[in-house]
Formats: sequence, structure tokens, C-alpha cells
Amino acid sequence: MNKKTIRDIDVAGKRVLVRVDFNVPLDANQHITDDTRIAAALPTIDYLLAHGAAVILMSHLGRPDGKVVEKMRMAPVAQRLSELLHRPVQTTTESIGPAVATQAQALQAGEVLLLENLRFHKEEEKNDTDFAHQLATLGDLYVNDAFGTAHRAHASTEGVTRYLPGVAGFLVEKEINFLGTALEQPKRPFIAIVGGAKVSDKIAVLERLLEMADGLLIGGGMANTFLAAEGYEIGDSLFEESKVKTARALIDKAHEKKIGLHLPSDVVIADRFAADAEHKNVPSNQVPKGWRILDIGPATIADFRAVLQDAQTIVWNGTLGVAEMAAFAQGTNAMIELLAQRTSEGATTIIGGGDSAAAVEQAGAAHKMTHVSTGGGASLEFMEGRVLPGVAALQDQ
Ligand code: 3PG
Repeated sequence: MNKKTIRDIDVAGKRVLVRVDFNVPLDANQHITDDTRIAAALPTIDYLLAHGAAVILMSHLGRPDGKVVEKMRMAPVAQRLSELLHRPVQTTTESIGPAVATQAQALQAGEVLLLENLRFHKEEEKNDTDFAHQLATLGDLYVNDAFGTAHRAHASTEGVTRYLPGVAGFLVEKEINFLGTALEQPKRPFIAIVGGAKVSDKIAVLERLLEMADGLLIGGGMANTFLAAEGYEIGDSLFEESKVKTARALIDKAHEKKIGLHLPSDVVIADRFAADAEHKNVPSNQVPKGWRILDIGPATIADFRAVLQDAQTIVWNGTLGVAEMAAFAQGTNAMIELLAQRTSEGATTIIGGGDSAAAVEQAGAAHKMTHVSTGGGASLEFMEGRVLPGVAALQDQ
């Protein structure tokens, strides 16, 4: 990464304003169901504290759309962070204003303050100049460690750097290095696995992967559109009619470039979209009317396993079936097991954020992969080759 990091600056005695992505999932009782993103920010926070800084953290949580939403307050996050840091975490009831400024001013080296949800102010997402300036006045230095939000040009990720020069935290550095190296200097063969619900979300990334990868494995709901493009009978499966031509063009491009583009050869079909639906396994060109594809089948898993056997770099983005329903999580779970095995055999395995990362976390297999990204939209945009404004705004090396 060609950006300065916290290693390049002297933070001793400084108030360091750090944008983190603590946008974690909460259940109905506001309990955090996955604290990966909080844990992922600890190396940066620990480093700053150990080097004599006072740390002011800021994040969004959910999409409150510029209003105060009680169930999106940062309090549960502050509590979990305090447990993980083994030290108190002060909170505020606002993210800007005179009371917050006084609290930030009084913060001593080794102390941590977490601001209230930034998105309670509509100015955050509008990248409002005055709001960004008010945030900037809270610190002496700015650090962006919110990889998951780096694709947003918001006041706390981009606007603030107009007033405080910024550097990257360790999480941003790690994400950019892992994702960047995997895509740009992969050990070959390099195979990409792309799933998820819609082709329309993944066109840009598929196009880029066709330039870089040696093979593409396609699963998830989006595979249905490719199967339709092959002229297969896919019953009542959801697919994007308006994207059939695009899928066809991607298949043709892969043929032209002699890149293996592998579609499911068999699928698990269900009589309705429900966890307890009746289901069975059929070849992917024989889906009867009234049935819909909800997962890849065992023959496809075997095909995918054969392709991945020699791969030295594997990038995976998007689940291969309806992973939240056990009956339709077989493909995703098989892939997690296979990638864990390939990692242990020396392959580099990178899991793009979002639903595939969540499935890997839930299976307790994150530590068995080379890297699991904390960014959903951010890792996808990075893989598409787009500039992440939150990273671009940081100081160059
Ligand atoms: C995410 O969860 O992908 C990030 O926190 C960004 O959230 P957003 O999509 O609401 O901007």
C-alpha cells in the first residue's frame, strides 16, 4: 500500500481521531451477534495507546438516516470494546458539539472515547464540510481504519482529511495488501469463486476477474441467470431476465480468453423458498416447473473441488446457496471446508466480506483462511478496481 500508516507518525501526547467500522450486527435486544469488526480494530487502537496517544473513536452503526434511533446507539459497542481492550471506554451522547469537544479535550494519554453514531447526523453521509470540520477539531491527528466504510466518501472518511492529514490504520493496510496482492500479483493458478443473489451486483467484478483469474466458479442465485443464458430450463428459479445477455457475453468472453467459467452441473431445488421446503437434487438443465434452485448440488461441489485442487490463489465472494437455511447451505459449507484444507496445503485463500465472510465466521473457520475481509461493499468495490475514497484521501508514502 502506498499510503502512510500509523507507523509513520509520532502519536505520543496527541489526541488521535480514528474512524473505525463498528457497524456490527445486533439482535433484537441490541446484543452484538458478531464482534469481528470490533476485534479487527484492536491492533490499531492498542498500538496508539501503547505509543502514548489519547484515542477518539468514531463509527456509524446501521442506517439511521440522519435521525437519532435509540436502538442504534453505540453503547453495546462501547461495552464490548471495553471488554476486549481491558480498559474503560468513555462514550458521548452526540458525535459533535461543545460537550463532546470538552470531553475530547480532557482525554488523557491511554484513554479511549467512542463518539455516538455518526449517522444520527445527515451531514455525515452528505460529507458536509462544517460537520467534517467539527469532527476534525476533536483530534490532532486522523487515522482511517474503517476498511468496511472506505468505499463511502463521507464526512468522517473523506471530508475530515481536508482539515486533518490522515494516515491508515493497520486494518486498512492489511486489507489493501491482502486483497491487492491476491488480485494483482497472484500465485497461479488463480481461481475466483463468485456467488450471491444477483449478477447485476457482480458484473464489474466478473469483468475484472476475467482479466486476471485463470478460472471462475459461479454459484448462488446469480448462477441462475447464467444457466438461463445457456438456455437451460430453470423452472421457477429467480433470475434476472434483463441480465441474461450480459451473462451470455461473460460466458463468451471466458471462452474467447480460454478461461474456464464453471457453472453448476447439478443443483438442489425446493418447492418453495422456506427452510423446511421439500427439496431434491437434479441436473441443472432439468429443473421442473414449480421448483426453484436454492443451492449447488454434490456433482457441482465435486467439479469445483477438482478445479480448486491445484489453485494457489483462491478469492471467494458471495455464498453459493441460501446459506442461512441449513438444507441449502451444503455448497457454501463444502466450500468453507475445502478452502480451509487448501489453506493448510499452502494456497492463499481470500474471503471477500459480506455474506461469504459471515458464513465463514459462523462456521468458526475464519482462522483457517489466509484473510477474511471485514468489508462487504468495500471489498467488492476494491476487487472491481475502483478507487476507495476513504483510502485515496490519506497521505501518500
Ligand atoms: C458495511 O457494513 O458494509 C459498512 O459498514 C458500510 O455500511 P453502509 O453500506 O451502510 O454504508
